[in-house]
Amino acid sequence: MTQLDQLFNEDRAHFMHPSTHAHDHASGALPGKIVTGAKGIRIEDHQGKSYIDAFAGLYCVNIGYGRTEVADAIYEQAKKLAYYHTYVGHSTDTIIELSSRIIDWSPAGMKKVYYGMSGSDANETQIKIVWYYNNVLGRPNKKKIISRQRGYHGSGIVTGSLTGLASFHQNFDLPVDRVKHTVCPHWYRQAPAGMSETQFTAYCVEELEKLIAREGADTIAAFIAEPVMGTGGIITPPEGYWAAIQQVLKKHDILLISDEVVCGFGRLGSKMGAQHYGIQPDLITVAKGLTSAYAPLSGVIVGERVWDVIEKGSQEYGAMGHGWTYSGHPICAAAALANLDILERENIAQNAGEVGGYLNAQLHAAFDDHPLVGEVRGAGMLAALEFMADKEGRKPFDAALKVGPKVSAAALERGVIARAMPHGDILGFAPPLITTRAEVDEIVKIVRAAVDDVANQVIGTAVAG
Ligand SMILES: Cc1ncc(COP(=O)(O)O)c(C=O)c1O
Repeated sequence: MTQLDQLFNEDRAHFMHPSTHAHDHASGALPGKIVTGAKGIRIEDHQGKSYIDAFAGLYCVNIGYGRTEVADAIYEQAKKLAYYHTYVGHSTDTIIELSSRIIDWSPAGMKKVYYGMSGSDANETQIKIVWYYNNVLGRPNKKKIISRQRGYHGSGIVTGSLTGLASFHQNFDLPVDRVKHTVCPHWYRQAPAGMSETQFTAYCVEELEKLIAREGADTIAAFIAEPVMGTGGIITPPEGYWAAIQQVLKKHDILLISDEVVCGFGRLGSKMGAQHYGIQPDLITVAKGLTSAYAPLSGVIVGERVWDVIEKGSQEYGAMGHGWTYSGHPICAAAALANLDILERENIAQNAGEVGGYLNAQLHAAFDDHPLVGEVRGAGMLAALEFMADKEGRKPFDAALKVGPKVSAAALERGVIARAMPHGDILGFAPPLITTRAEVDEIVKIVRAAVDDVANQVIGTAVAG
């Protein structure tokens, strides 16, 4: 047995992987991959094969792999002070500097940053803050949270409930009953036939109003949403959506949590998704792009309106009973500071806007008329292809055909990682924000060959490459 076989055996025996078919992995039916190294936008596996990572890990390695500047910052911080807690007013210089820098990246009106280690734990904190806020204000019934079908906000107990994907609820007794879901704002798949995009926005607003009326506005505390939906299928909002939704929330005194775990720190070409769409949130969640995944760090950015109530609460009830051992970990903060230095120095958000626009244009050019592709969509350095059996009639393929996973596998075989999204036959792209136009050309060319290959298998039509 080779050393590699031994490693795979141990992986199957003892490592419980996230979001992985337990039996297929343990039995070996699911071929694993051991990633051994990475540089720029490419990763290398155990066979020495190189791939373009057109999903930046899980939309997170925004500055690309192998940045020794970040590694050095982590090393220096670990030598100087690997850890101290931040309870009861303790700080480190790195976390203080980082907090001010994050506020600089945020839209107007943001005040404080609380830290966690993941997007999921940050969103758990958000919900606790919202509940605390309404208790301090003497509104104990105003506790329900509205999220959207196909929204993604994590996989904890409350955050898994907020996530609007069935597989995150099934067999976990979720969602919890304080969480309600409204319509997914995907015009192409959700709009009734003949409805324009702006009419569909009005429809989304109407559905939200109906849900609020059904539950009672005095029971709804907050609305949580991603500026562009990520894991639910990379779905850009229909025209006028954000302005119209915010009016409804204001009218009913419902807080807005902008989940910027994917969109934050440049992915849409703006500092955060909020600035891109004119969103004025009360609370913001960040994670992934904050450190470009060089260390696990998330943030809950609290706006002035909520912060004032938290301060008032402490005068009445004492210190808030909420905290993690690793809140504001100095090593993660050092990684984040080095990451922000790189983002700012190299104008990476601007590159994401420009090259992301090019990526979306090239995908439209290659796939708008492709028989397998119903919709090409995206914003900034986020894009998706949705595969449909009948593109005009908007009829999806039978899920058992696994068209999305087949295209993803065919692209992988050719050296590009693009993600088969968990809902529907959708291929997602979220490359590192440093990706160049030449690399976009390479990605689109390879993906076109992969889609043609699968089209030949599933619709039996020879498609010219
Ligand atoms: C928008 C959004 N929110 C929250 C999360 C949860 O983050 P984590 O996986 O770090 O818990 C994710 C993860 O993909 C996400 O995309």
